[in-house]
Amino acid sequence: MNNPYLPKPYHILEIFHESETEFTFKLERDYEINFGQFLQVSLPRIGEAPISVSDFGEGWLEMTIRAVGNLTKDIFKLTAGDKMFVRGPYGNGFDMSEYIGKHLVIAAGGTGLAPVRSMINHIYRDEGVVEKLDLLFGFKNPSSIIFNRDIEKWKEKFDTMLTLDEACGLDGVCEGLITNYVKDVRLSEFEKMAVIVIGPPVMMKYTAGEFVERGVPEEKIWVSFERNMSCALGKCGHCKIDETYVCLEGPVFNYSKAVKLID
Ligand SMILES: Cc1cc2nc3c(=O)[nH]c(=O)nc-3n(C[C@H](O)[C@H](O)[C@H](O)COP(=O)(O)OP(=O)(O)OC[C@H]3O[C@@H](n4cnc5c(N)ncnc54)[C@H](O)[C@@H]3O)c2cc1C
Ligand code: FES
Repeated sequence: MNNPYLPKPYHILEIFHESETEFTFKLERDYEINFGQFLQVSLPRIGEAPISVSDFGEGWLEMTIRAVGNLTKDIFKLTAGDKMFVRGPYGNGFDMSEYIGKHLVIAAGGTGLAPVRSMINHIYRDEGVVEKLDLLFGFKNPSSIIFNRDIEKWKEKFDTMLTLDEACGLDGVCEGLITNYVKDVRLSEFEKMAVIVIGPPVMMKYTAGEFVERGVPEEKIWVSFERNMSCALGKCGHCKIDETYVCLEGPVFNYSKAVKLID
């Protein structure tokens, strides 16, 4: 019988430096994956952590990792050709049937952009998946912007608003918190709309709140949680909020449910 806790080694194919503290690792892949799912990534004798899949294609996937602690700092010492240990994928991911043919708005803060990047790239490549896609991204300052090369590409096809918390004087960039700019997002008839809000908990709470304030029904909004996890298999309870196992039922939740889970 397969041991679900046992990770498998995969070669690192390439590493891209997004910022000083965020690198994207491209790995081999031999399993199915859905937009917004995550993997349990580990190094022997160091540790294990959940990391979102930030893009994928035939035989490969990417994960964008911020160096914050024991495991992620050691992962940053790896080079192409080294192996990373992986089990998964886990979580529900985004249910595309909720967004097909709709006016989709994605509001992402900081590394929250990672779990939606593969979906945006899919919509970019395969025009006609949604009726319209509008993007609203918030970062702290110019050096914290990730996926610069993708954002430049997305701007060609989608209305894209970039906001920086700190004043920067950059052309085409708005200054201030992402929440201040929800009022500038175009809305359609709510029946034909879907909104995804993704980022740190406080950003999700206030950004989703701004959309609700503008009349968007909670049922038309989705969020994704980065809740502390351990097993990712519904066994240990680390991810539990009230009776909800985020690793099994999430990390993507409809806001009508998530609003009761956000602190
Ligand atoms: C579903 C999901 C998806 C995720 N996706 C991503 C992703 O795509 N990219 C990404 O970079 N991260 C992602 N994360 C977050 C990532 O799993 C965590 O940052 C993870 O803890 C990193 O592991 P680590 O061992 O490197 O850090 P840890 O050692 O666990 O440290 C994590 C944080 O705790 C602090 N800390 C550690 N030890 C102590 C201590 N003794 N006292 C006080 N503070 C301490 C560290 O400074 C750091 O800020 C995701 C999490 C979830 C749940
Ligand atoms: S992480 Fe163990 S139950 Fe969800």
